[in-house]
Amino acid sequence: MTGAALWPVQNSPRLSVDALPDHKRNPIPLHPRLILCWTELTSPGGPCTARIPDNKYCRVSYNFWGSLLTSVQPSTHLSEVRYEIRGPLARRARELEAHGRDIVHINIGNPGRFGFRVPAHLLEAMARQLPHSDAYCQEQGIEEARVAVAAQQLARGASGVAVDRIFIGNGVSELIDIALRALLETGDEVLLPSPDYPLWSAATLLNGGLPRYYSCPAVQAHLPDSDEMAALITPRTRAIILINPNNPTGAVYPRALLEKIVALAEHHGLLLLCDEIYDGITYDEHRFEPLAPLAGEVPCLSFNGLSKVHRACGFRVGWMSLSGNPQRTAAYRDALQLLAALRLCANVPAQWAVKPALEGPATITALVRPGGRLHEARRAVINGVESSKYLQLVAPQGALYAFPSVRTDAFPEFDDESFAYRLLEEESVLLAPGSSFNVPDSRHVRLTLLPEATQLTDIVTRMDRVLGRLAAPARSGMVTVS
Ligand SMILES: Cc1ncc(COP(=O)(O)O)c(C=O)c1O
Repeated sequence: MTGAALWPVQNSPRLSVDALPDHKRNPIPLHPRLILCWTELTSPGGPCTARIPDNKYCRVSYNFWGSLLTSVQPSTHLSEVRYEIRGPLARRARELEAHGRDIVHINIGNPGRFGFRVPAHLLEAMARQLPHSDAYCQEQGIEEARVAVAAQQLARGASGVAVDRIFIGNGVSELIDIALRALLETGDEVLLPSPDYPLWSAATLLNGGLPRYYSCPAVQAHLPDSDEMAALITPRTRAIILINPNNPTGAVYPRALLEKIVALAEHHGLLLLCDEIYDGITYDEHRFEPLAPLAGEVPCLSFNGLSKVHRACGFRVGWMSLSGNPQRTAAYRDALQLLAALRLCANVPAQWAVKPALEGPATITALVRPGGRLHEARRAVINGVESSKYLQLVAPQGALYAFPSVRTDAFPEFDDESFAYRLLEEESVLLAPGSSFNVPDSRHVRLTLLPEATQLTDIVTRMDRVLGRLAAPARSGMVTVS
């Protein structure tokens, strides 16, 4: 069976309809629908064409003996799910690196990659407890860590907080999925910020929900408008998601705005989910307001973790605290516990770092105040954008990112992804195009503030160089950026 040939099915002892695998032996639903009509084997195991009953043809593969080699198809639940931050652009960067290129990675908020170290008292606590970390722990996390989280939430003024309403997970990432899985029915709607941290959209979709985006555009300093949020609420809405301080925009939500959002949740009986993983990272006069104390009796899940403020993202530890009237969330709390139990528990050794992180010295403070590394990094990006002919920026007030856009007058038809590819190919800088964050336009990019200030100045210069090259033909009327 080698060489190119047409094999009419009925003439082939191997490649006949009968040769299709038995549905019972190989229960893949597509099989019974396939009717082999002819095959063109250029090599054993090559592809052939099969007909499905509505007379459409599809390509399938057979092995030497004529058994169907079904390709493994991913679930259609993933068809709308994106995580471009680690997508094709990042893979292209790896290819370039494999060929010896030195790429600057500012696409991911990964502190360890830029020389930030986990505070020593966290490492010591973990090392000390390592010999006592062999067993699975309670599904919600070790008692010591949950007591520390509960104490922090109570000290902030959250209501209804208790140790059995705290959940420790393998990063906030895992808890985002658990929280939405426990909540959503197919077709339920969730209010999400646009731009968002894309895991929130992905987890909503994967759990059958429908994202309904409230806009946080640059013209509004990346803050949402509570009237617009109210207009998006329908009988199917179940929850409002907030990211404060925000990734990717750096917006820090003022108290008055948070109060309006709480009022919406209260009025419509919605669960509040607030991702506060950057809570200790604010700049200049900007102050973080935790949502739970403002929510009072309104059910609220507050998310936080070791990854950012404590620079321990490799530890994979996050937590969520359920506040508000316990009676209103008793069944939901039980559902969270059930889902937590199904995955047994979070990484035990790293959970020992939670108490010292919350109760020990606030090591982030020195980094975000004037003269501190993150403060100066942010300043370098602001200054770089100010002296750019092409870029504009709402100065980030918190978190680890800047979300500049290109000026419309310079680039009426800018495409952030094409730009990101050119920046990578021509200037060896990998950043995240703004469209990775579920925004309706393609004019933004996201940079992390993790490199040293001097390196960020250089990165903005490199961005400007590419923009200059793009603008030159556009100005002469030859080419627009697309
Ligand atoms: C807003 C936000 N939430 C959650 C996460 C994930 O955090 P973790 O490392 O705890 O999974 C990130 C990571 O960048 C983030 O930016």
